Amino acid sequence: MKRAGVILAAGIGKRMKSGRPKVMHAIAGRPLLGHVMAAMQEAGVERIVVVRSPGGESVAAYAAEAGAESVVQSEQLGTGHAAACAGPVLSDFHGTLLINNGDMPLVTGKTLQRAFAAAEGTGLAIVAFRPPDPRGYGRVLCNAEGFLDRIVEDKDASDMERSVTLCNAGTVVADAQHFFRWAAQLDNKNAQVEFYLTDVPAIARREGIRSAVVEVDAVEVQGVNDRAELAQAEAEMQKRLRTRALHGGVGMLAPDTVFLSFDTELEPDSQIGPYVVFGPGVEVWSGAEIRAFSYLEGCTVERGAIVGPYARLRPGAKIEEDVHIGNFVEVKNSRIAKGAKANHLTYLGDADVGAGANVGAGTITCNYDGFDKYRTEIGAGAFIGSNVALVAPVTIEDGAYVGAGSVVTERVPKNALAVTRAKQTEKPGWAETFRSRKRAEKAKKGK
Ligand code: UD1
Ligand code: MG
Repeated sequence: MKRAGVILAAGIGKRMKSGRPKVMHAIAGRPLLGHVMAAMQEAGVERIVVVRSPGGESVAAYAAEAGAESVVQSEQLGTGHAAACAGPVLSDFHGTLLINNGDMPLVTGKTLQRAFAAAEGTGLAIVAFRPPDPRGYGRVLCNAEGFLDRIVEDKDASDMERSVTLCNAGTVVADAQHFFRWAAQLDNKNAQVEFYLTDVPAIARREGIRSAVVEVDAVEVQGVNDRAELAQAEAEMQKRLRTRALHGGVGMLAPDTVFLSFDTELEPDSQIGPYVVFGPGVEVWSGAEIRAFSYLEGCTVERGAIVGPYARLRPGAKIEEDVHIGNFVEVKNSRIAKGAKANHLTYLGDADVGAGANVGAGTITCNYDGFDKYRTEIGAGAFIGSNVALVAPVTIEDGAYVGAGSVVTERVPKNALAVTRAKQTEKPGWAETFRSRKRAEKAKKGK
């Protein structure tokens, strides 16, 4: 059976107090929406439709980039109405449909897979959980056989119903065409005057369809409604990512201080020091070491390379085998070839550094003139002295030397020495003469 997913993301998320739609806030370097999409795909969902608000252009753009469709819910008339908005684009879809809130980033593919499996047995399934505090959630009322009787929203519930601790997570699975037919029969005669998705099971029951209730761990379906919950979700996601890395053979001295992105790829036997932050798109190969207080994004660190402490690798940094990138070195959009070293206080931007080259402390590639970026080529085995400014575009050929303090604007030929600093001059005895004069002046003033 084919599987499609609808993600409800038209809510404004007022409590985030943000100009950005709630589902576009990120945890582990990816928007909440992206996490829900990934879980759906893991559960075999091939087609995803995101329901967004008229102002949620960024939601539509993100969905499109990730290969999903989106529809606009022009008025927020409730979760059932939002789900129904996906009906027209899925009118040709025959298969099973999963509807999920967009603000549930910790949900796993495994859990959604369980919901699909349960719906195969009965025709409809919902996901439920027991939160520490059930206030605000829809309550899941089950019959004697454990099937769903109905869901009652907190605002519509009697005191008796409110005492139920099993709550609705916001996931519904059913046959797509049946679902849209049921959703068309919803009304808004309730406390919030909204079309509730949670009323769909009761409508299905009129056709003899029973609803299965899949109970899951509360942590997974925890919603994100404000900044505090966003931070909690981040913490939980970090815990998962760290555990996965450790189990995968990554060495970490202080895992609780390491921040990972959803796509951080750390090979077994890589070593990560304390307080290292990984933005999206980082690959660290086996046998590489990232030392304390380094910040990496969009880069690759190959076998045997050592990065940090206090290094910054920006997008496009390719740190090859056995390279050393030391403290206060920043690398952007540059390839540093095998065995090259830049150990201290250096900026390498838009550069190609050849194998075995040595870049001295304080070297800067001057890659930007305020309008365009230019490349610096440093050949294999070249030696760049300390405090050198390489004004790009410029090439230092293989094996060449650049003297400390030089400003290099022209090609340095193979095995040559380039020095552009002023020649040193000396005045013998000058310092002693100077000091005597100054002391005499001071003594005179003091009288
Ligand atoms: C909903 C459920 C409740 C459940 C809770 C879990 C209903 C009626 N209630 O309540 O049973 O316990 O989630 O968190 O479904 N949305 C739209 N369009 C709308 C309204 C909402 O797209 O018109 C989206 C929101 O962006 C959000 C999701 O639907 O992603 C849930 O909406 P929300 O208002 O948070 O529902 P709750 O009141 O929390
Ligand atoms: Mg909610």
